[in-house]
Amino acid sequence: MRIRQATGSDMERIMEIEENAFIPYIRETYQTFDSRMKTFPEGFLVLEDDKGAVQGYFSSELWDELPNNNKVFILDHEIAKVHKPDGKVLYISSYALMSGLRGKGLGRLFFRECLRQVRKAAPQIAEIVLIVSQEWGAAHHIYEDLGFKTIRQIPGFFPSDIIPGGADGIVMIKTVEDL
Ligand SMILES: CC(C)(COP(=O)(O)OP(=O)(O)OC[C@H]1O[C@@H](n2cnc3c(N)ncnc32)[C@H](O)[C@@H]1OP(=O)(O)O)[C@@H](O)C(=O)NCCC(=O)NCCS
Repeated sequence: MRIRQATGSDMERIMEIEENAFIPYIRETYQTFDSRMKTFPEGFLVLEDDKGAVQGYFSSELWDELPNNNKVFILDHEIAKVHKPDGKVLYISSYALMSGLRGKGLGRLFFRECLRQVRKAAPQIAEIVLIVSQEWGAAHHIYEDLGFKTIRQIPGFFPSDIIPGGADGIVMIKTVEDL
């Protein structure tokens, strides 16, 4: 396994992972991923298996600050409108593994290594922010284990097939000192 920066030739596979990992109303578009890759390439990484097949992706952007309101948490938002190359807040916009590889500890390792690599490329990062659905138990568990704390809950943020009115979005944050 190795982790490397994503390139344009990974796009098709990234869209397959997106389809594999998220229900239709949550999936983000090709255009969104393409912009992320072009705007902040150091923040867009993929996990490659021993045969060279991409099995996971991690995308992120840099913000000046965490706003007080929730308007910034919009699925499929255009990175160019918010990304600041010198920003101190790393926002993790998405992260997923193909289902066949889940549940073996790889997701946790991949996440940690992505944080390490992105922080190396952008050493000014002081805080890391993300939003996770109440339905994504594995991801939520990994974030809590790494010391992310819940700072806001956005009721019904994520469309859901199971929860009427949608699943809550849980906004989590962590400072980098103890990573
Ligand atoms: C999130 C994701 C990448 C994690 O990868 P993974 O390989 O499944 O993760 P790991 O096996 O490394 O770790 C999963 C941990 O969550 C735990 N877990 C699994 N399902 C859980 C659940 N429903 N509730 C609580 N914990 C759960 C596991 O026990 C494990 O913890 P442990 O190592 O302390 O035992 C993967 O599950 C995925 O792609 N999910 C779909 C997309 C997604 O949710 N992305 C997150 C966007 S914020």
